[in-house]
Amino acid sequence: MRNKIIDLITDSIKELDRETVSRILEIPPQEDMGDFAFPCFQLSKIFRKAPNIIAQEVAEKIKKTDFVSKTAAMGPYVNFFIDRTMFVSEMLKQVSVDNYGSSEIGCGKTICIDYSSPNVAKNFHVGHLRTTLIGNSIYRIYKKLGYRVERINHLGDWGTQFGKLIVAYKKWGSKEAVEQNGISELMKIYVKFHEEAEKDDTLNDEARAWFVKMEQGDEEALSIWEWFKDISLIEYKRIYELLDVDFDSYAGESFYRDKTSAVVDELKKKGMLKESEGAFIVDLEKYDMTPCLIMKKDGSSIYATRDLAAIFYRKKTYDFEKCIYVTGMEQKLHFAQVFKVVELMGYEWAKTDLIHVPYGLVSLEGGKLSTRSGNIIYAEDILRESVSKIKEVINDKNPDLQDKEEVAKMVGIGAIIFNDLYNQRIKDVTFSWDKIHSFDGETGPYVQYTYARAASVLRKTGITDVPEEIDSSLLTDEASVSLLKELIRFPEVVETAAERLEPSVVARFVMSVAQAFNHFYHENQCNVEDEKLKRARVKLVIIAKKAIKDGLDLLGMKCPEQM
Ligand code: ARG
Repeated sequence: MRNKIIDLITDSIKELDRETVSRILEIPPQEDMGDFAFPCFQLSKIFRKAPNIIAQEVAEKIKKTDFVSKTAAMGPYVNFFIDRTMFVSEMLKQVSVDNYGSSEIGCGKTICIDYSSPNVAKNFHVGHLRTTLIGNSIYRIYKKLGYRVERINHLGDWGTQFGKLIVAYKKWGSKEAVEQNGISELMKIYVKFHEEAEKDDTLNDEARAWFVKMEQGDEEALSIWEWFKDISLIEYKRIYELLDVDFDSYAGESFYRDKTSAVVDELKKKGMLKESEGAFIVDLEKYDMTPCLIMKKDGSSIYATRDLAAIFYRKKTYDFEKCIYVTGMEQKLHFAQVFKVVELMGYEWAKTDLIHVPYGLVSLEGGKLSTRSGNIIYAEDILRESVSKIKEVINDKNPDLQDKEEVAKMVGIGAIIFNDLYNQRIKDVTFSWDKIHSFDGETGPYVQYTYARAASVLRKTGITDVPEEIDSSLLTDEASVSLLKELIRFPEVVETAAERLEPSVVARFVMSVAQAFNHFYHENQCNVEDEKLKRARVKLVIIAKKAIKDGLDLLGMKCPEQM
């Protein structure tokens, strides 16, 4: 439709080319300003007249077509009013295609997303929940655009902390306690290690010695480490299962332990390594950054070295177009340093293809959350509490609902996902049960409820097949057109969300569709006598319902047919 308007303008006014018109053509903010607006500010140079005058002349010159019912100059704008029936029929045609919202722009290209990536033997806290949800949504968005996406869980499963854990386990741990209490037991003995090491520094030496053993492949050290990792993964996978999140690779930091020396060698060969107090660094002073530590005094690698090795491994293995890292803001410097080092090694692609996607903090508002230990907030506890609270609501409001458990899970988990993804990721997320569980705020439950309402409307009409040929003139009322105007944005929304690595763009879209649908629902009865009218409205309900589902799917949320 946009193209048709562009044609119309360029056909009528020879001085204007398609590119210029396309660049400035807008969608006006209000219904009474028509469907497209052509601002004439920038045309003063070409026509040497005031924009208002140009607007008037353009409006008069535009050829009459049956497609445009009216053109009118309003100040410096020319507003185009498209014939309602044609407009509706054109929009319907677009939103009815199979795979609406998908595209092929990513075909043949690969994106790596590094997200979730918890630290073994440490709890999966709300910060890890955010990277998991944001990463999962970005994965889904890129997938929708046809990209091949490698989901990578870069587990924090290597480093000196494991030496400490082994010492702690040997001194104060027991197999039964670890098996029974999992990560919280590992955290407990880890804390004890630090308390005891305050008093007795030789514990630290012991810990270092155990980590050296790990790096040298000592069987005992590695088998304890492996076991801690398995124990931790059981808990992480329980969370991933709740969230329905998956990964293509769990190659964490330990995976790169035999791949760091090649990086160190290359840095040496390229003359980039500098000795500093026995350790080796890459100096980044010129770039206003603190040095990137590459190798410690004792020769062991660190977090950054393993990230460097991971970048080269991924480039070679996946030939990624982009490698995206989703972590909290506090790692901004880390990634800036690592990416800079790759660039300085002579890899130009580091400038464009390595992307850090930071996000804000989660803070709690009002009400207490029940957690296993005072101040650490376990993601799993929050998720389960959310599900059980929603179940109470269902038991109260709709006790006969089928699949109560399933629905409570979809809505309880969905509420948390939606709250997390609704605002720009860089903003802090506040968390209060009342707010996120409200059925009429800007929440997950509101959108899911809208979906269930659409499903219920359809059930009542008894129409099961999608009505094919419908009379578009029956959907020209304000509420139907507004709904269509929201739906029509979907493909553009997905692309923008991908470009900005911003799931909130999708979340906002789904909210607008849900609101427009509810407006439509209040204005228009669907189950009417008039069969033609009924079929037309049903068609629109089916399309809106599907858009909500597809939109929520991009956020990693599910939709109950009843709730
Ligand atoms: N394990 C880290 C953490 O929990 C996040 C790892 C992010 N990915 C990476 N390649 N550095 O903070």
